[in-house]
Amino acid sequence: YRIAVFASGTGSNFQTLVDAGKAGLLGGAKVELLVCDKPNAPVVQRAHDAGVPVHVFTPKSYASREAYEIEIVGQLETLNIELVVLAGYMRLLTTVMVEKYAGRLINIHPSLLPSFPGTNAILQALNYGVKLTGATVHFVDGGMDTGPIIAQQSIEIESNATVESLSQNIHDIERELYPRVVTWFAEGRVRLMDRQVTIISNS
Ligand code: GRF
Repeated sequence: YRIAVFASGTGSNFQTLVDAGKAGLLGGAKVELLVCDKPNAPVVQRAHDAGVPVHVFTPKSYASREAYEIEIVGQLETLNIELVVLAGYMRLLTTVMVEKYAGRLINIHPSLLPSFPGTNAILQALNYGVKLTGATVHFVDGGMDTGPIIAQQSIEIESNATVESLSQNIHDIERELYPRVVTWFAEGRVRLMDRQVTIISNS
């Protein structure tokens, strides 16, 4: 089961998925491609170190978002990618990607959606003063963190929490949540109907 990861930054989720795939912990899924819009992002070096092919591009050098997405779709098709996994990819997708990969395109977001969509979700949660937050894996539609929810994991916000400590704690739960969800896909256990997601039991 062949997956591509889209990332723009540090790439800790990318690394987790690469490592889990190599260790046989993703139900047979493997990361076959990194797509990155920032040539100097640390995640690119991680991909090189792991031997994962990279499609890196500079958005400014294209006439439109659709133009670079058409190129990306070409890469995904060449590699027979079955699931597209966004992990800190800091761009909205157009209908080119969203329609082509409908039902096979997921994102992870560092809050309990629908609370705190968009950037700075962790800071938003701290500023609001919620006592629980977490991470959400969801299907991607045309909106900002608005697609059907697949799985969530919550954590408590401690009274002395900072953006740094909470980011660390959320990364820790993401490290477990994202591989679990990718495994469900690889095992063919995720159903999407009328915006409702069901996970088929494997017992
Ligand atoms: C994660 O917190 C994820 O929820 C958000 O972006 C962050 C990416 O972190 N979408 P990393 O690059 O995987 O370390």
